[in-house]
Amino acid sequence: MPVLVVVGAQWGDEGKGKVTDLLGEQAEMVVRYQGGNNAGHTVENEYGKFALHLVPSGIFNPRVVAVIGNGVVIDPTALRAEIDELESRGISTANLKVSGKAHLIMPYHIMLDHVQEARLGKGKIGTTGRGIGPAYADKAARQGLRMEDVVDPAGFRELVMSTMKAKAEVMSRTYDQDVSSLEAECERYIEAAESLRAHVDDTALMLWKALREDKAVLLEGAQGTMLDLDHGTYPYVTSSNPVAGYASVGAGIGPMELNEVWGVTKAYTTRVGEGPFPTELTEETGEKIRKVGNEFGTTTGRPRRCGWLDLVALRYAVRVNGMTGLCVTKLDVLNDMETIKVCNAYRYRGELLEELPPARSVLAQVEPVYEEVPGWKSDISGVTSIQDLPQEAIDYLNFIIANVRVPISLISVGPKREQHIKVPYPNVGRQGARGQQEGQGHGGQTHDHGH
Ligand code: IMP
Repeated sequence: MPVLVVVGAQWGDEGKGKVTDLLGEQAEMVVRYQGGNNAGHTVENEYGKFALHLVPSGIFNPRVVAVIGNGVVIDPTALRAEIDELESRGISTANLKVSGKAHLIMPYHIMLDHVQEARLGKGKIGTTGRGIGPAYADKAARQGLRMEDVVDPAGFRELVMSTMKAKAEVMSRTYDQDVSSLEAECERYIEAAESLRAHVDDTALMLWKALREDKAVLLEGAQGTMLDLDHGTYPYVTSSNPVAGYASVGAGIGPMELNEVWGVTKAYTTRVGEGPFPTELTEETGEKIRKVGNEFGTTTGRPRRCGWLDLVALRYAVRVNGMTGLCVTKLDVLNDMETIKVCNAYRYRGELLEELPPARSVLAQVEPVYEEVPGWKSDISGVTSIQDLPQEAIDYLNFIIANVRVPISLISVGPKREQHIKVPYPNVGRQGARGQQEGQGHGGQTHDHGH
């Protein structure tokens, strides 16, 4: 039974939560493999509307084991609050398992995140302020605390307090910070972390066993390819690797276990935080997309920057993830557009670029070259089969497929679970990226993979 990776193909917020919620219905294990509570998945289902930050959306299915993998960084107070909220609304979290190797975000990470951003001033990254970068930095510097440390409460407290003191010293000396609140804050974090002990497990071993039993597994990425620490628009990126290759590291299984990689893209583009965004619209159309698409951050509430679909960036995401299928979300947001622009190349100093330029100084200066296609000017939010989409919408999707050469596996036309064009799990994609390498791209056809 295949292992499917779901990865963000843009700058995050692509609607991965909805896609994994849908696919999670057929999976028996859903594993989040990187990021932290900088992510925010909005899931709308029969239980209501939920903003999940750390807990995989598979949690709504009692058959599913929902795993927070070793590649994730966990703010224990945030995870505690999320579990409490789910439980209070009748969703059992008994099946939530957390890797002992996952690192903890502590109050000094959050303080440092804010301090560093303030120091960068105009050159700031625009982080979510959740302490993500400093927590991953400590992990790499071998100064981190892990979930497994909570099994020894006395040792854990000692480790937290001694690390906090060392960090506090740096912050007060170098950054002139008032660190007097840190000790009490750390107490709160210790308590929250210890309250999670029952969820801590050897999740990599659980996963290994599940794979040996041929169980269907979904590996869920957070953020998106263009925010990847290595492959994104550095330094305006997050501090982890959302790309599919990291799914095996962050879940604790070998790379040969991964069978399918589905990338999720909106029918247009958004970005939060600073950094290059070639197709950004700063005028009326951008405002319209923001309003219709309700493009405000789930985690921070920040208005998202909006723009047209960027196929140069999407082709890149297809390549670096080895994508075998594409999920297009929020197609309905474009319902009212007279015409739709799609960027299929960049122009840099008179030269046409069809691939994402590797140099950051170039990407910051490119201009999008647009092709314009007719809009469908009708409400598609109730459509559940490809045949019922207006021809203009089908043409738009085919234009995407023809230019990124990966089949579309799923289309979402609204926030609710039922608002999608259904594809059984996961029967597509074999000819996707591999077909392209072999010269067998799909040549611009939208397939209803339900057949
Ligand atoms: P950090 O992950 O909080 O360090 O933020 C680094 C960059 O990634 C900033 O531009 C954030 O806005 C962006 N970012 C982090 N998480 C998300 C997400 O889930 N969706 C969209 N952008 C994100």
